[in-house]
Amino acid sequence: MNNNLIEIKDLSVNFPIKSGYLGRKTGELRAVNRVSFNIKKGQTLGLVGESGCGKTTLGKSILRLIEPSNGNIRFKSTLINDLKNSEMRKIRKKMQIIFQDPYSSLNPRMNIRSILSEPLKIHNLFNQNKQQRNNRIYQLLDYVQISKSALNKYPHEFSGGQRQRICIARALAVEPEFIVCDEAVSSLDVSVQAQILNILMDLQKELNLTYLFISHNLEIIQFISHEVAVMYFGNIIEKASASEIYDNPKHPYTKALLSSILNTNFNKDRIILKGDIPNAVNPPNGCHFHPKCWKATDICKEIYPDESVLDDGHIFRCYHPL
Ligand SMILES: Nc1ncnc2c1ncn2[C@@H]1O[C@H](COP(=O)(O)OP(=O)(O)O)[C@@H](O)[C@H]1O
Ligand SMILES: [Mg+2]
Repeated sequence: MNNNLIEIKDLSVNFPIKSGYLGRKTGELRAVNRVSFNIKKGQTLGLVGESGCGKTTLGKSILRLIEPSNGNIRFKSTLINDLKNSEMRKIRKKMQIIFQDPYSSLNPRMNIRSILSEPLKIHNLFNQNKQQRNNRIYQLLDYVQISKSALNKYPHEFSGGQRQRICIARALAVEPEFIVCDEAVSSLDVSVQAQILNILMDLQKELNLTYLFISHNLEIIQFISHEVAVMYFGNIIEKASASEIYDNPKHPYTKALLSSILNTNFNKDRIILKGDIPNAVNPPNGCHFHPKCWKATDICKEIYPDESVLDDGHIFRCYHPL
């Protein structure tokens, strides 16, 4: 039986580049380039990479909040690329997204009761009577460990961490199966980050949720993920189980990311990357990482590396794996 909840095949997203008075299209920016992966039901895929490498674009395109330029997206084996709006609405209920900034994602004029009731009303859920809806709202608050006294308060009365809990409760309102967490804890203090991560992990077990957890912070990714995909310049350049990525990184870029984690053994041998950041409109030939790579040879400058797969499913794209 296929236990993948999400299956992505050759997904690409290109943004048109327009210039001049008439805004003519003069080129394309390849934000996501032929990305493929699956996420098993009840598991977390961590997506890590530096700012601008395409993580948000990838996350949004899976939910079709940004339309992909190419490739297939399957949710529970159903191809969702070409679904009509009405069909997509049903599926989108099952796929939610939580963003980095809990300050701007909650309407400041709505109290918490209205914020949590809104998705229930829109999707006609728990609507037999007022009591049923109230019970659901209490349950949502319970999931994120916020007391009922919050219901008549407004977003500004809460801390960043509490606001992010409310965002999580709102995402859960429609009984999703898949949640994209895009830098969901990045704006919070370290101690608060840990609380939110623990809530997300507890909820995953309790509700059998599947996450795509996006972060530029490999330490956070390590903590929450079953599998880790490392993104560079719109491509997945390495993917393996979380432990394999840490114990046995194959791609020099992954190794460099690991070496930048503070307070670990890796830090003794910190790798400082030099060289240019590739131009997203006119990317260099060959491996996009070659201008910064200390192992690069002629072939790396010329031909983009194919995927290599190890026995345990560990995938990487590199001519000179570590
Ligand atoms: N709506 C857009 N139009 C044009 N370019 C965009 C748009 N959104 C993102 N980009 C570009 O796509 C690339 C990937 O961005 P993004 O997905 O936000 O990266 P990340 O989330 O990893 O920081 C960047 O070069 C960014 O400037
Ligand atoms: Mg982003």
